[in-house]
Amino acid sequence: METLIKKLNYDKMDLSLIREAGAIIRRGGLVAFPTETVYGLGGDALNPQSSEKIYAAKGRPSDNPLIVHIAEKEDVYKIARQVPEKAKQLMEAFWPGPLTLIFPKDSIVPDKTTGGLDTVAVRMPSDKIAAAFIHAAGGFVAAPSANASGRPSTTMAEHVVEDLSGRIEMILDGGQAVIGLESTIVDVSEEHPVILRPGVITKEMLEAVIGPLETDQALIAPDSSVKPKAPGMKYRHYAPKAVLTIVEGESKAVVEAVNHLAARAEEEGKRVGIIATDETADCYQYGTVRSLGARCHEEEISMHLFDVLRSFDETDVDCIYSESFGDAKIGQAIMNRLLKAAGHKVIHV
Ligand code: TXA
Ligand code: MG
Repeated sequence: METLIKKLNYDKMDLSLIREAGAIIRRGGLVAFPTETVYGLGGDALNPQSSEKIYAAKGRPSDNPLIVHIAEKEDVYKIARQVPEKAKQLMEAFWPGPLTLIFPKDSIVPDKTTGGLDTVAVRMPSDKIAAAFIHAAGGFVAAPSANASGRPSTTMAEHVVEDLSGRIEMILDGGQAVIGLESTIVDVSEEHPVILRPGVITKEMLEAVIGPLETDQALIAPDSSVKPKAPGMKYRHYAPKAVLTIVEGESKAVVEAVNHLAARAEEEGKRVGIIATDETADCYQYGTVRSLGARCHEEEISMHLFDVLRSFDETDVDCIYSESFGDAKIGQAIMNRLLKAAGHKVIHV
């Protein structure tokens, strides 16, 4: 199948193009589209065959449920059996935006879309192209991140082309996703809300609205045998082709350790990649150095993370050493993705 790639302008959106993309979804086809977090691979959430096509195009296990994207807050009541008070407060505070909520599912949502679960994940993106596209598609777009299963999520149309070209009808190109990390997921289907995936909407921001909430134990102790509540969190996502190791410690010690490790690897004939920050990039003497941005601007780091991981796949490095990030604010979400990419290989210095 030929994949059409269509560029869209946020200031002057081509509505006929949006309608064309919406019509593909209504016919049961697939369209990748930009959101503020990462690109999504969209299909009709209420059509089980569309969900099957999404799993096939991504090469994703079909027990891993999809997020249903909506463009109107009220539409949540059409697909959720119950919307608790705390969920309403979160919707009021953070929708549209990078927050996904898990509700008991209404029978209108096919089991295929939710991987057989009786709950449904719902998100209302703030991205203007995404909102217009969801409207045009009929209001309910199932969309996982638009990457091939096991690869880093896509933050620009070029990444989607790399992974899904020839497998989907259309890619809407809205440029670089401004956040770059997937949405925060909160399960509100049971009495006590639980964070299933950290994102730029942090625990503190959520607690400011609804009071104390738990984080899924499987995220805190990821090497343990605790099974994550979000099925997708159990897979080794975001895996670059090279072996990735995170080096943790005080900045100067990290630079020294990475220089030492990189020198040794090069002696062994290996090609080395280094994931640095603007503050340290010039201090590394070996390998291919890529900076994620300035540490004082966490948003830059999150925005560039997946692109840098992908770019190393193209340079054929054998091993990558990465600096680590603190737990405060977005740091937790950044580290969650990095640790998964590294299969939890960390060296403390
Ligand atoms: O920012 C995002 O959330 C992006 C954009 C495209 O919206 N989407 C995204 O989807 O990251 P995906 O499929 O790559 O990740 C969704 C995660 C998976 O870990 C999945 O297991 C979990 O959400 N999930 C979906 N439905 C669930 C449910 N009913 N219960 C628990 N976890 C669920
Ligand atoms: Mg994903």
